[in-house]
Amino acid sequence: MSDIKSEFGVFGLGVMGSSISLNIADKGYELSVFNRAEGGEEAVVDDFMKANSHLKNLHGFTDLDAFIESMARPRKILIMIKAGPTVDLVLNNLIPKLSKGDVIIDGGNSHYINTKRRFELCQEQGVEFIGAGISGGEEGARKGPSIMPGGKKESYEVVSNVLESIAAKDDFGKTCCAYIGPEGSGHFIKMVHNGVEYVEMQLLAEIYAMLSVHNSNEAIAKVFESWSQGELSSYLLDITIQILRKKEGDDYLLDKILDKAGNKGTGSWSSKAAFDLGIPNTMMSSAVFARYISSFKESRVAMSQKVKTNTNDFNLPQTDVIKEAYKMARLINHQQGFKLMELASESYSWKLNFSDIARIWSNGCIIKSHLMNSLHEGFKTQRDLFQMDMVFTDLLDHEKDLRAVLQAGLNSRSSLHCFTAAYYYWIDMTSERLPANLIQAQRDFFGAHTYQRTDDQSGDYFHTKW
Ligand code: 6PG
Repeated sequence: MSDIKSEFGVFGLGVMGSSISLNIADKGYELSVFNRAEGGEEAVVDDFMKANSHLKNLHGFTDLDAFIESMARPRKILIMIKAGPTVDLVLNNLIPKLSKGDVIIDGGNSHYINTKRRFELCQEQGVEFIGAGISGGEEGARKGPSIMPGGKKESYEVVSNVLESIAAKDDFGKTCCAYIGPEGSGHFIKMVHNGVEYVEMQLLAEIYAMLSVHNSNEAIAKVFESWSQGELSSYLLDITIQILRKKEGDDYLLDKILDKAGNKGTGSWSSKAAFDLGIPNTMMSSAVFARYISSFKESRVAMSQKVKTNTNDFNLPQTDVIKEAYKMARLINHQQGFKLMELASESYSWKLNFSDIARIWSNGCIIKSHLMNSLHEGFKTQRDLFQMDMVFTDLLDHEKDLRAVLQAGLNSRSSLHCFTAAYYYWIDMTSERLPANLIQAQRDFFGAHTYQRTDDQSGDYFHTKW
């Protein structure tokens, strides 16, 4: 048994766990860290402790009882392990060893429904549970991530000092960690963050595809660089410029990377949540499907042999036109993401604060961007992006640019999944009439599903013997 009393504990020393541990230790907290010493991980704790032997406030454990015993009460344990069934196994091991009032924080990308279930399980066992979305990758974890904690407010307050001190800072020096709401809300928000991330990545990939018909990687990097200051600036744009320029000898590394995109599921979870809640997030699902389509590499290669592409007569739109279309698509992406959160907030009574969510996403996370600062301001008075000053006018003014980009995509056979989804969302949301009257008539024709009438104000449903 150890006589050290740590103020905080981290369970799991993978890439994210070890980076966040060093971040916590840097802030001066007495910190206990645990990793199992089996299954190929025998040396993890030893190696970590040796590499950081200068940090006297860091205490390593491979024995779970000793780890738990090393912490002052109420214990605060951040688990940083792969999301999925392992989290349940770890909770099953941890909970019986903990005391009333101890707080477990799941910092992985857990599904919000699992977080809700685990939250309830912990409540039954007298242990507090926080599901915290953490974004920023390895560097963010080490230097300051964006943190989205959900659970009981009182439990959050027990751990807020540590979480808030390790998070990134916004432009005004405020921490990019804020209490989100009850049960699974923190992980829901992180899931939507990842959905928005998928789209932001896909939009850049689509522009890259279209530009690369006639441009070198360096020329594309220059275009992106010219957008990278001011209102379009973002982390994902910045890293894309670096990626485009990265060389291996004389060759661009990007040209050697196999065009099959992977995923760990959070993008598809956002789409599923949107389907469940009945809200259109067409851009996120398009981004997910674009990744899926890319994975059919062998079939694509085989069929491409039978298709002749003539790109000679293809005219690229002016860079400024593409820029405006990109800006418009990004706004619509954020509109869809925030609308998804709004509906979840209403359905689950979470009372989410969108201005604060935009603020904690203004730094530390993968989708940090200049736009988040504007949204932080905008959501102080509006709950809808399209109602914000300038946004609607801006979108209306640049509809033609988005159309020009889509036209160029058609001419060059460049697929523009997300740009297309953005355009039709905008068109539909600003159309007085949609052909849904015909859908209703068809439904009523074959299934007596009934319809409402434009010449009846009662809202009643009617059926016709067609
Ligand atoms: C973050 C990232 C992080 C991770 C994604 C990648 O916010 O730090 O979103 O969570 O990079 O899980 O997801 P895919 O593997 O599905 O692209």
